[in-house]
Amino acid sequence: MAMYNDKVMDHFMNPRNVGEIENPDGVGEVGNIRCGDIMKIYLRINEDEVIEDIKFRTFGCGSAVASSSIATELIKGKTVKEALKITNKDVLRELGGLPVIKVHCSVLAEQALKAAVLDYATKTGKHYEELDGFNPEEEHEH
Ligand code: FES
Repeated sequence: MAMYNDKVMDHFMNPRNVGEIENPDGVGEVGNIRCGDIMKIYLRINEDEVIEDIKFRTFGCGSAVASSSIATELIKGKTVKEALKITNKDVLRELGGLPVIKVHCSVLAEQALKAAVLDYATKTGKHYEELDGFNPEEEHEH
């Protein structure tokens, strides 16, 4: 597995924030049509729109697991607005990079977060312009 650095391996072997949140304030699921992998993210959001807790489940490859693990660490404690600014590039930087053919795996976490925030926004009647044009039903090819 020389193609993966130590940090990726660590987050793959010991992923942080795996699981589910009961009665989440937002939940989102997205898939990648090329590989068929699926990512689900659960959010606990308080009155100040701070993401107090985040958990993920994936039927995805090792890079998707490592990316999501890092993403949850980046997102936890941030406001919804701040979290929506986090992209897969931040995830890649934090991980120290992924093999080129695995870069699309890091997009799954970003998309699942957006889907979960959209669910929260729909339930609470909020609007985030960062989500304009985002459609979780859309099939992502990245
Ligand atoms: Fe599908 Fe990595 S190969 S998410």
